[in-house]
Amino acid sequence: MDILWVNFLRIMHIFAGTLWVGAAVLYLFYITPSVKATAPAGTKFHQYLIARQKYPIFMIIVSTLTIIAGAILYWRDAGGDLASWITTGPGLGFTIGTIASFLVYFVGMALITPRGKRLGVLGAQIEAAGGPPTKEQMAELETLDKQLHTLEWVDFILLAIALVTMATARYWFF
Ligand code: HEM
Repeated sequence: MDILWVNFLRIMHIFAGTLWVGAAVLYLFYITPSVKATAPAGTKFHQYLIARQKYPIFMIIVSTLTIIAGAILYWRDAGGDLASWITTGPGLGFTIGTIASFLVYFVGMALITPRGKRLGVLGAQIEAAGGPPTKEQMAELETLDKQLHTLEWVDFILLAIALVTMATARYWFF
């Protein structure tokens, strides 16, 4: 592959991967606690972030770009012989990071996104009714909130594994 392409893909991969991890950290450790601490004003801010500023779309774009560029680089590094490459230090390191990133992508798309959407719908219903949430709505809000918090932590741990393995794999000498 032309070296210009390799560099283009590396820049795209590392840039998008950094945004992916950075945004996840910001969301988990700063935005979520701030939204909770400042409810109900925080809830409005949160709805705006999700629906108007399209934070989920941003996450889908950066994670997809990271994976596409990473997959092409992975294929190139393996040189068509995946079985042998995986038994080398760097091959193993990049593979662990790749699996961790795929899991993050799956958790985000299949588990976090539908719950986030449901939270948005519920929030809109409560706002439209004009009163405090009913007992059932409150119970569902709490369940969704707990599930999302756990899933975001799972994603964070997997992202940290991906980042650490990707950043060091080149120097796994064995
Ligand atoms: C959160 C997700 C990710 C982050 C933060 C990340 C970060 C990085 C970083 C910093 C490097 C540079 C390492 C170096 O040059 O020594 C790198 C390289 C690499 N990454 Fe990732 N990565 C992520 C996901 C992925 C995924 C999903 C794949 C595969 C589908 C992948 C495949 C690769 C490969 C093959 C390289 C080596 C590229 C080369 O030969 O220059 N990465 N990654």
